[in-house]
Amino acid sequence: MIADTLKTVYHIVLSPVRGRTHEERLGSFYKGQADNYDAFRKRMLHGRKELIDSLPAEKGQVWVDIGAGTGENAEMMGERLSDFGSVQLVDLCEPLLEVAKARIEKNGWKNVRTVHADATEYQPQDRADLVTFSYSLTMIPDWYAAIENAYAMLKPGGRIGVVDFYVSRTYPEKPFVKHSWATRTFWPAWFASDNVWLNRDHLPYLRRRFKTLRVDEGSGKLPLMPFVRVPHYRFIGTKPIDPGPTDPGPTDPGPTDPGPTDSSRPARETGRFNEEPG
Ligand SMILES: C[S@@+](CC[C@H](N)C(=O)[O-])C[C@H]1O[C@@H](n2cnc3c(N)ncnc32)[C@H](O)[C@@H]1O
Repeated sequence: MIADTLKTVYHIVLSPVRGRTHEERLGSFYKGQADNYDAFRKRMLHGRKELIDSLPAEKGQVWVDIGAGTGENAEMMGERLSDFGSVQLVDLCEPLLEVAKARIEKNGWKNVRTVHADATEYQPQDRADLVTFSYSLTMIPDWYAAIENAYAMLKPGGRIGVVDFYVSRTYPEKPFVKHSWATRTFWPAWFASDNVWLNRDHLPYLRRRFKTLRVDEGSGKLPLMPFVRVPHYRFIGTKPIDPGPTDPGPTDPGPTDPGPTDSSRPARETGRFNEEPG
Protein backbone atom coordinates (compact mmCIF):
# COMPACT_ATOMS: atom_id res chain seq x y z
CA MET A 1 0.00 0.00 0.00
CA ILE A 2 2.73 2.51 1.03
CA ALA A 3 4.96 1.27 -1.80
CA ASP A 4 2.09 1.74 -4.29
CA THR A 5 1.43 5.25 -2.97
CA LEU A 6 5.10 6.21 -3.25
CA LYS A 7 5.30 4.79 -6.76
CA THR A 8 2.26 6.85 -7.82
CA VAL A 9 3.64 9.98 -6.13
CA TYR A 10 6.92 9.43 -8.00
CA HIS A 11 5.06 9.34 -11.33
CA ILE A 12 2.97 12.39 -10.46
CA VAL A 13 5.70 14.56 -8.96
CA LEU A 14 9.11 13.46 -10.25
CA SER A 15 8.87 11.33 -13.38
CA PRO A 16 9.21 13.54 -16.49
CA VAL A 17 6.27 13.51 -18.91
CA ARG A 18 7.57 12.79 -22.42
CA GLY A 19 6.01 12.62 -25.87
CA ARG A 20 5.51 14.58 -29.06
CA THR A 21 1.72 14.27 -29.10
CA HIS A 22 -0.94 14.66 -26.42
CA GLU A 23 -1.64 10.93 -26.62
CA GLU A 24 2.03 10.04 -26.11
CA ARG A 25 2.25 12.41 -23.14
CA LEU A 26 -0.84 10.81 -21.56
CA GLY A 27 0.72 7.36 -22.05
CA SER A 28 4.00 8.52 -20.55
CA PHE A 29 2.24 10.04 -17.52
CA TYR A 30 -0.13 7.16 -16.76
CA LYS A 31 1.79 4.03 -17.85
CA GLY A 32 3.65 3.53 -14.56
CA GLN A 33 0.64 4.33 -12.36
CA ALA A 34 -2.30 2.72 -14.20
CA ASP A 35 -2.50 -0.27 -11.80
CA ASN A 36 -2.73 1.92 -8.73
CA TYR A 37 -4.78 4.66 -10.40
CA ASP A 38 -8.12 3.90 -8.69
CA ALA A 39 -6.79 3.50 -5.16
CA PHE A 40 -4.81 6.75 -5.29
CA ARG A 41 -7.35 8.86 -7.19
CA LYS A 42 -10.13 7.89 -4.72
CA ARG A 43 -8.28 10.12 -2.25
CA MET A 44 -8.06 13.15 -4.52
CA LEU A 45 -10.82 13.16 -7.17
CA HIS A 46 -13.67 14.22 -4.90
CA GLY A 47 -17.32 14.48 -5.90
CA ARG A 48 -17.34 11.77 -8.58
CA LYS A 49 -19.73 9.48 -6.71
CA GLU A 50 -22.01 12.41 -5.83
CA LEU A 51 -22.13 13.40 -9.51
CA ILE A 52 -22.86 9.88 -10.73
CA ASP A 53 -25.54 9.38 -8.05
CA SER A 54 -27.36 12.52 -9.16
CA LEU A 55 -27.50 11.62 -12.86
CA PRO A 56 -30.41 9.79 -14.49
CA ALA A 57 -30.08 6.23 -15.84
CA GLU A 58 -33.01 5.06 -17.86
CA LYS A 59 -33.72 1.89 -19.81
CA GLY A 60 -32.00 1.72 -23.16
CA GLN A 61 -30.24 5.09 -22.93
CA VAL A 62 -26.78 5.90 -24.31
CA TRP A 63 -24.12 7.14 -21.84
CA VAL A 64 -20.78 8.43 -23.11
CA ASP A 65 -18.16 8.93 -20.37
CA ILE A 66 -15.43 11.15 -21.82
CA GLY A 67 -11.89 10.80 -20.54
CA ALA A 68 -13.18 7.74 -18.71
CA GLY A 69 -9.75 6.40 -17.74
CA THR A 70 -10.08 3.11 -15.87
CA GLY A 71 -13.90 3.09 -16.01
CA GLU A 72 -14.40 3.76 -12.30
CA ASN A 73 -17.51 5.87 -13.04
CA ALA A 74 -19.23 2.83 -14.58
CA GLU A 75 -18.53 0.94 -11.35
CA MET A 76 -19.95 3.86 -9.35
CA MET A 77 -23.20 3.70 -11.34
CA GLY A 78 -23.83 0.39 -9.50
CA GLU A 79 -26.95 -1.56 -10.36
CA ARG A 80 -28.26 1.26 -12.55
CA LEU A 81 -25.50 0.51 -15.06
CA SER A 82 -27.46 -2.40 -16.54
CA ASP A 83 -30.33 -0.02 -17.44
CA PHE A 84 -28.28 1.67 -20.14
CA GLY A 85 -28.53 0.32 -23.66
CA SER A 86 -24.95 1.38 -24.36
CA VAL A 87 -22.15 2.78 -22.21
CA GLN A 88 -19.06 4.06 -24.01
CA LEU A 89 -15.86 4.71 -22.06
CA VAL A 90 -13.92 7.10 -24.27
CA ASP A 91 -10.24 7.82 -23.63
CA LEU A 92 -7.04 8.57 -25.50
CA CYS A 93 -4.79 6.74 -23.03
CA GLU A 94 -4.28 3.03 -23.78
CA PRO A 95 -2.72 2.06 -20.39
CA LEU A 96 -5.84 3.32 -18.56
CA LEU A 97 -8.21 1.76 -21.10
CA GLU A 98 -6.50 -1.60 -20.49
CA VAL A 99 -7.60 -1.34 -16.84
CA ALA A 100 -11.12 -0.40 -18.00
CA LYS A 101 -11.23 -3.41 -20.35
CA ALA A 102 -10.21 -5.76 -17.50
CA ARG A 103 -12.97 -4.21 -15.35
CA ILE A 104 -15.60 -4.81 -18.06
CA GLU A 105 -14.42 -8.40 -18.44
CA LYS A 106 -14.38 -9.04 -14.68
CA ASN A 107 -17.89 -7.65 -14.18
CA GLY A 108 -19.30 -9.30 -17.31
CA TRP A 109 -20.83 -6.00 -18.44
CA LYS A 110 -22.33 -6.63 -21.87
CA ASN A 111 -23.53 -3.06 -22.50
CA VAL A 112 -20.19 -1.34 -21.73
CA ARG A 113 -17.26 -0.90 -24.13
CA THR A 114 -14.07 1.10 -24.30
CA VAL A 115 -13.41 3.53 -27.15
CA HIS A 116 -9.88 4.68 -27.90
CA ALA A 117 -10.53 8.16 -29.27
CA ASP A 118 -9.98 11.87 -28.81
CA ALA A 119 -12.65 13.71 -26.83
CA THR A 120 -12.57 16.57 -29.29
CA GLU A 121 -13.52 14.32 -32.24
CA TYR A 122 -15.39 11.18 -31.16
CA GLN A 123 -19.08 10.94 -32.05
CA PRO A 124 -21.15 7.88 -31.02
CA GLN A 125 -23.25 6.14 -33.67
CA ASP A 126 -26.46 7.03 -31.80
CA ARG A 127 -26.79 10.36 -30.09
CA ALA A 128 -26.19 10.31 -26.32
CA ASP A 129 -28.72 10.78 -23.53
CA LEU A 130 -25.95 11.38 -21.01
CA VAL A 131 -22.40 12.69 -21.36
CA THR A 132 -19.99 12.92 -18.43
CA PHE A 133 -16.53 14.37 -17.87
CA SER A 134 -14.97 13.54 -14.51
CA TYR A 135 -11.64 15.25 -13.96
CA SER A 136 -10.98 14.99 -17.69
CA LEU A 137 -11.80 18.50 -18.93
CA THR A 138 -8.72 19.87 -17.12
CA MET A 139 -6.55 17.36 -19.01
CA ILE A 140 -7.90 18.11 -22.48
CA PRO A 141 -5.84 20.90 -24.07
CA ASP A 142 -8.63 21.97 -26.43
CA TRP A 143 -11.35 21.81 -23.75
CA TYR A 144 -13.45 24.25 -25.77
CA ALA A 145 -13.59 21.74 -28.69
CA ALA A 146 -14.38 18.90 -26.24
CA ILE A 147 -17.39 20.81 -24.86
CA GLU A 148 -18.59 21.62 -28.38
CA ASN A 149 -18.19 17.97 -29.34
CA ALA A 150 -20.17 16.88 -26.26
CA TYR A 151 -22.92 19.36 -27.17
CA ALA A 152 -23.04 17.88 -30.68
CA MET A 153 -23.26 14.27 -29.46
CA LEU A 154 -26.10 14.92 -26.99
CA LYS A 155 -29.75 14.51 -27.92
CA PRO A 156 -31.85 17.62 -27.29
CA GLY A 157 -32.97 17.26 -23.66
CA GLY A 158 -29.92 15.07 -22.88
CA ARG A 159 -27.85 15.64 -19.74
CA ILE A 160 -24.25 16.57 -19.21
CA GLY A 161 -22.48 16.04 -15.87
CA VAL A 162 -19.02 17.45 -15.13
CA VAL A 163 -16.87 17.28 -12.02
CA ASP A 164 -13.40 18.79 -11.97
CA PHE A 165 -10.82 20.96 -10.26
CA TYR A 166 -11.07 24.67 -11.03
CA VAL A 167 -10.36 28.14 -9.82
CA SER A 168 -12.82 31.00 -9.91
CA ARG A 169 -12.57 34.08 -12.06
CA THR A 170 -11.27 37.13 -10.27
CA TYR A 171 -14.81 38.51 -10.19
CA PRO A 172 -17.19 35.54 -10.55
CA GLU A 173 -20.88 36.12 -11.11
CA LYS A 174 -23.06 35.90 -8.01
CA PRO A 175 -23.78 33.48 -6.30
CA PHE A 176 -20.60 31.66 -7.29
CA VAL A 177 -17.62 31.25 -5.01
CA LYS A 178 -14.75 33.71 -5.28
CA HIS A 179 -11.36 32.14 -4.58
CA SER A 180 -8.54 34.05 -2.98
CA TRP A 181 -5.58 35.31 -4.99
CA ALA A 182 -3.41 32.60 -3.42
CA THR A 183 -5.84 29.83 -4.46
CA ARG A 184 -6.17 31.21 -7.99
CA THR A 185 -2.42 31.39 -8.35
CA PHE A 186 -1.10 28.34 -6.51
CA TRP A 187 -3.30 25.50 -7.77
CA PRO A 188 -3.01 26.17 -11.52
CA ALA A 189 0.77 26.38 -11.15
CA TRP A 190 0.89 23.22 -9.01
CA PHE A 191 -1.14 21.07 -11.42
CA ALA A 192 0.37 22.44 -14.65
CA SER A 193 3.51 20.32 -14.24
CA ASP A 194 1.29 17.24 -14.80
CA ASN A 195 -0.50 18.84 -17.76
CA VAL A 196 -3.62 19.37 -15.68
CA TRP A 197 -4.93 22.85 -16.47
CA LEU A 198 -7.17 24.35 -13.82
CA ASN A 199 -9.22 26.94 -15.62
CA ARG A 200 -11.36 29.89 -14.58
CA ASP A 201 -13.47 29.64 -17.77
CA HIS A 202 -14.63 25.99 -17.76
CA LEU A 203 -17.62 26.50 -15.47
CA PRO A 204 -18.76 29.83 -17.00
CA TYR A 205 -18.59 28.30 -20.48
CA LEU A 206 -20.53 25.17 -19.46
CA ARG A 207 -23.19 27.45 -17.99
CA ARG A 208 -23.31 29.47 -21.18
CA ARG A 209 -23.50 26.47 -23.52
CA PHE A 210 -26.03 24.31 -21.63
CA LYS A 211 -29.07 25.05 -19.53
CA THR A 212 -27.83 24.80 -15.95
CA LEU A 213 -29.71 22.38 -13.71
CA ARG A 214 -27.32 22.39 -10.80
CA VAL A 215 -23.89 23.60 -9.71
CA ASP A 216 -22.09 22.63 -6.52
CA GLU A 217 -18.77 24.12 -5.52
CA GLY A 218 -16.53 22.65 -2.85
CA SER A 219 -12.99 21.68 -2.01
CA GLY A 220 -11.20 18.50 -1.00
CA LYS A 221 -7.96 17.13 0.35
CA LEU A 222 -5.05 15.72 -1.63
CA PRO A 223 -3.09 12.64 -0.50
CA LEU A 224 -0.06 13.51 1.66
CA MET A 225 -1.08 17.21 1.80
CA PRO A 226 -3.28 17.31 4.91
CA PHE A 227 -3.35 21.08 5.40
CA VAL A 228 -4.59 22.27 2.02
CA ARG A 229 -7.75 21.77 -0.02
CA VAL A 230 -8.13 22.10 -3.75
CA PRO A 231 -11.39 23.52 -5.19
CA HIS A 232 -13.68 21.44 -7.39
CA TYR A 233 -17.14 21.94 -8.90
CA ARG A 234 -19.95 19.72 -10.09
CA PHE A 235 -22.07 20.90 -12.98
CA ILE A 236 -25.25 19.27 -14.30
CA GLY A 237 -26.81 20.75 -17.38
CA THR A 238 -29.08 19.88 -20.25
CA LYS A 239 -29.02 20.53 -23.97
CA PRO A 240 -32.16 22.59 -24.64
CA ILE A 241 -34.90 20.73 -26.54
CA ASP A 242 -35.50 23.81 -28.62
CA PRO A 243 -32.42 26.04 -28.43
CA GLY A 244 -34.46 28.82 -30.11
CA PRO A 245 -33.12 32.20 -31.08
CA THR A 246 -31.46 32.64 -27.67
CA ASP A 247 -29.04 29.74 -28.20
CA PRO A 248 -25.63 31.42 -28.11
CA GLY A 249 -24.13 28.79 -30.44
CA PRO A 250 -20.45 28.02 -30.22
CA THR A 251 -18.78 31.21 -29.13
CA ASP A 252 -15.52 32.31 -27.75
CA PRO A 253 -15.07 31.07 -24.16
CA GLY A 254 -15.88 34.54 -22.90
CA PRO A 255 -14.04 37.67 -21.95
CA THR A 256 -10.42 37.15 -21.14
CA ASP A 257 -10.00 37.09 -17.43
CA PRO A 258 -7.19 39.40 -16.37
CA GLY A 259 -5.86 36.65 -14.13
CA PRO A 260 -4.96 36.72 -10.48
CA THR A 261 -3.96 40.32 -9.92
CA ASP A 262 -5.73 41.36 -6.75
CA SER A 263 -5.28 40.17 -3.20
CA SER A 264 -8.90 39.42 -2.47
CA ARG A 265 -11.25 38.50 0.29
CA PRO A 266 -10.96 34.99 1.78
CA ALA A 267 -12.76 32.30 -0.22
CA ARG A 268 -15.97 30.80 1.09
CA GLU A 269 -15.54 27.10 1.70
CA THR A 270 -18.43 25.90 -0.45
CA GLY A 271 -21.25 27.30 -2.49
CA ARG A 272 -24.29 25.72 -4.01
CA PHE A 273 -26.51 26.84 -6.78
CA ASN A 274 -29.51 24.87 -7.89
CA GLU A 275 -31.65 25.90 -10.83
CA GLU A 276 -33.55 22.62 -11.02
CA PRO A 277 -37.24 23.21 -10.40
CA GLY A 278 -38.68 21.62 -7.27
C1 LIG B 1 -7.60 12.60 -14.30
S1 LIG B 1 -8.06 11.40 -15.49
C2 LIG B 1 -9.76 11.09 -15.03
C3 LIG B 1 -10.19 9.70 -15.40
C4 LIG B 1 -11.59 9.32 -14.93
N1 LIG B 1 -12.61 10.10 -15.58
C5 LIG B 1 -11.71 9.42 -13.44
O1 LIG B 1 -12.59 10.17 -12.94
O2 LIG B 1 -10.97 8.72 -12.73
C6 LIG B 1 -8.23 12.32 -17.01
C7 LIG B 1 -8.51 11.43 -18.19
O3 LIG B 1 -8.73 12.22 -19.35
C8 LIG B 1 -8.14 11.53 -20.45
N2 LIG B 1 -7.94 12.45 -21.57
C9 LIG B 1 -7.14 13.55 -21.61
N3 LIG B 1 -7.20 14.14 -22.82
C10 LIG B 1 -8.07 13.41 -23.56
C11 LIG B 1 -8.56 13.54 -24.90
N4 LIG B 1 -8.17 14.52 -25.70
N5 LIG B 1 -9.44 12.60 -25.33
C12 LIG B 1 -9.85 11.60 -24.52
N6 LIG B 1 -9.42 11.44 -23.25
C13 LIG B 1 -8.53 12.33 -22.77
C14 LIG B 1 -6.86 10.98 -19.85
O4 LIG B 1 -6.28 9.96 -20.61
C15 LIG B 1 -7.36 10.50 -18.51
O5 LIG B 1 -7.85 9.20 -18.55
